[in-house]
Formats: sequence, C-alpha cells, structure tokens
Amino acid sequence: MDISTVNSLPYEDFVNIFGNVVEKCPIITAAVWSSRPFVSLSALEAAISEFIDSLPESGKEGVLRCHPDLAGRDLRRGTLTRESREEQARAGLHALEPAEASRMARLNEEYKQRFGFPFVVCARMNDSTSILRQLAEGCRSELAAERARGIAEVKKICRVRLRGLVLDDVSNKL
Ligand code: GUN
Repeated sequence: MDISTVNSLPYEDFVNIFGNVVEKCPIITAAVWSSRPFVSLSALEAAISEFIDSLPESGKEGVLRCHPDLAGRDLRRGTLTRESREEQARAGLHALEPAEASRMARLNEEYKQRFGFPFVVCARMNDSTSILRQLAEGCRSELAAERARGIAEVKKICRVRLRGLVLDDVSNKL
C-alpha cells in the first residue's frame, strides 16, 4: 500500500489496518486519522509520535501497560496479538532455555512491581540475550528514565510495524 492509498482510507479501514501499530492502542490510530493527508510514511509516523508525546505521563504509562510481558503469559497461552507474536518469535522468546525463561519471568515481575508498567523493548531489534540484559538494567533504573525509554521503544516498534504495512518513501519512488 502506498501513502496515497493510506490517505484515501475511510477511518474504519484505517483503524482496522493500522490499529495495532501501537500495541492495543487503536485510539492513537483513530486520533491521527484527523491529521491526514500524510505526505509520506514518515509524516504518519511523526503524527503518531507527536500524539504520544502530547499525552500526560499517566497516558504514556497507560500506553506501556497495553503491552504484554515479553515471553510472558500471553505468549504461553497463544493470546498475543499477531504482531507481538511474530516479533517475540523473531527474537527467540518462544524458545528460551528453562533457566532463561525463569530469569525473564522473575525480572519482568520485579520490573512491574517497581514501576507499575511492563518492560517494553523493540523485540525486532534485539535477541533474547540483549533483551535480558536491558531488562536487568531497567530493574535498576528510575521511573522517569524507564518511562521515557519505554516510550522510545514503543516508537521503534511502531516504525517497524508501519514499514510492514506501507511502502516507504524511497521504495515508493521506484
Ligand atoms: N516489543 C515488541 N512487542 C512487544 C510486546 O508486545 N510487549 C513488550 N513488552 N515488548 C514488545
């Protein structure tokens, strides 16, 4: 799909197609529809990013809380969104060694206890080793820093998901 097709979508289709570019936050997609037409994929991405930045800190934490744990209950039960399932599988999180899986579970709980939201990282840009390392570091970090880091990761996840749906500005010209 190219950007002119995106711009021609009625909001129902727009939300159906792009509603999970930010995990389980279709309200963000529904809100940015008002900003069309987008001159490019980057402009759509920027509109989403600006919307997230405009949220109060509690709203940003809410966005983080819409994310499932990495290698958590939803993965075991098969109840992840398609996007999250594919990203976690690519990072090898569906096939952790038992010792890694229990370390991940322990650290995820510790992180949530400390901050009140889950650890979020762009799984597509990491593997299980780097995720575990960052999760352990995050557990020793501070609230404002982790909220900001988590939101920056949400934007990376959004970028990867958008690129999977819309031809980017360069390939568009080919
Ligand atoms: N990174 C990519 N997808 C996800 C997800 O669904 N949850 C978390 N916590 N991080 C992610």
